[in-house]
Amino acid sequence: MSTKKDKKLGMASRAIHAGEPRERYADTLTTPIFQTSTYVFKNSRDIEEYTKGNKPRFEYGRYGNPTELIAERRIADLEGAEDCLVFSSGMMAITTTILSLVKTGDHIVITDDSYKKTLEFCKSYLQRFGVDCTIVPFGDYEALDRAIRKNTRFIFSESPTNPYLNVFDLVLLKKIADRHGVLTLIDSTIATPINQRPLEYGIDLVTHSCTKYMSGHNDILAGTVLGSKELIAPIRSLHKSMGGLIDAHCCYLLLRGLKTFPMRVHHQNTAALEVARFLEGHPSVERVYYPFLESHQHHAIAREQMKGGGCVVTFVMKGDLAAANRFMDSLSMIFIGPSFGGAETLITHPATVSYYDYTREQRYELGITDTLFRLAVGLENPEDIISDLESAFSKAGKKS
Ligand SMILES: Cc1ncc(COP(=O)(O)O)c(C=O)c1O
Repeated sequence: MSTKKDKKLGMASRAIHAGEPRERYADTLTTPIFQTSTYVFKNSRDIEEYTKGNKPRFEYGRYGNPTELIAERRIADLEGAEDCLVFSSGMMAITTTILSLVKTGDHIVITDDSYKKTLEFCKSYLQRFGVDCTIVPFGDYEALDRAIRKNTRFIFSESPTNPYLNVFDLVLLKKIADRHGVLTLIDSTIATPINQRPLEYGIDLVTHSCTKYMSGHNDILAGTVLGSKELIAPIRSLHKSMGGLIDAHCCYLLLRGLKTFPMRVHHQNTAALEVARFLEGHPSVERVYYPFLESHQHHAIAREQMKGGGCVVTFVMKGDLAAANRFMDSLSMIFIGPSFGGAETLITHPATVSYYDYTREQRYELGITDTLFRLAVGLENPEDIISDLESAFSKAGKKS
């Protein structure tokens, strides 16, 4: 893990230096990409030292890679975790973690505001293997308490959530979980360890899609799970069988992204708040959801638990589906696309993208209205983002 010296450094310094020995392989400054699928033994004595556990080393690509190990140590340091695993995607981290924790006959609880694919995995796939799943409304702590059974293994939730940026009261979550003796898992992707550190609240395991802020350039997929050595050990074991390892070059790009990660998140916290305030005051906007806006229902808990609101700003435009389409079509700098936490500002229209296969009634039941947008504020000048939005609102208002 990180050295004592690393611990004394600030987050920006640790994002660059933590978890890597000062003495570098072949004197390289940047972390090498160890492009190999296998590792060789010098002789029989070398094998014996390894199998007896006297000499930790690498053996085969699916069991780990030196570039990956440095990324794991660095992310563990940033999150304040004892141990960490890096995966080929955020979903690989979530599914491997969940599978390692459950067996037939178990029950799990998940909040309804979680990532669509996580919910799908828990609702549909786990049921096939006899693992029951209760979905509770986010923020209904009494329903959460009631949902826990004798065979409940864990409670899973995102915080903040997507797209409404709802924030879980982690103290309350921990209290409920402890009363029943169940584990707690938080997908903290939207917050990042710069803005929120759930392990400090006693949460057992934290996951992130590193595809987002940590890599930060919309060019790779990666994921991570963090927690105690004891809880990570069985996940590591299953990870070796599932084989969802991150490729070494991808891992290098993740390490490169991590070097600017804290600075980028600080910038995005400030820029997103500025954009959220602009949207809140705009006559074409009905409602804005951003946890650091006073109008957000979880503003108080967000200010208590989080250092910044992150880059995601959700808003509802006035008008209808046609106006929403005209608005999207009028953007000139902001790209239309999923994901968040990268350099480019992106906007998604859940009604026509993620929920295109739902009926309007089904969508509205989930709060996915025709004019709902999720904006992921990037690293451009905030005034340019605002100007692009302003001009698109104006064009959307003019029917051709
Ligand atoms: C909150 C959250 N968790 C997990 C994931 C899955 O991550 P990945 O796309 O890296 O598999 C996503 C993807 O959008 C996400 O938004």
